[in-house]
Amino acid sequence: MLIEFTLNGAPVAVDAPADISLLTLLREHLNLTGTKEGCEIGECGACSVIVDGLLVNSCLMLAPKVAGRAVTTIEGVTPPGDELSDLQRNFIDHGAVQCGFCTPGMVLAGEALLAQNPQPSREEIRTALSGNLCRCTGYQQIIDAIEATAIGRQPSK
Ligand code: FES
Ligand code: FES
Repeated sequence: MLIEFTLNGAPVAVDAPADISLLTLLREHLNLTGTKEGCEIGECGACSVIVDGLLVNSCLMLAPKVAGRAVTTIEGVTPPGDELSDLQRNFIDHGAVQCGFCTPGMVLAGEALLAQNPQPSREEIRTALSGNLCRCTGYQQIIDAIEATAIGRQPSK
């Protein structure tokens, strides 16, 4: 079936089976491999993407469900060229990236939170990351990176 939606700000139309997940659509039909395939049962958050402003596990969403909606993947967070976003830069600067497998999902969880709550408390950041597992960093550095980004995005007074 033809699935038409907005992907990272641009319209796309993909001919794909109706019974595949959004994760498979992104990785195997659109070659967007920044979205990671982890548990595939909704427990790790490695496959997180943003759909109409909400963080979702793309392994659990059927691809046709995104028809007419706006999807943001990690490729849409990174500015054009070799630049990193402020949040991605803060992940590096705060030691929040080790193996990197969880990182795209963590960055999208951070972006989804900051879009809804530009000044989150550390507890709110922790809650927003509750569906994203990291086996490496111990989470504090990831929270530090999101907190620093929130502070950096505040308009100067
Ligand atoms: S791969 Fe989707 S939650 Fe783990
Ligand atoms: S950096 Fe390795 S799983 Fe998070």
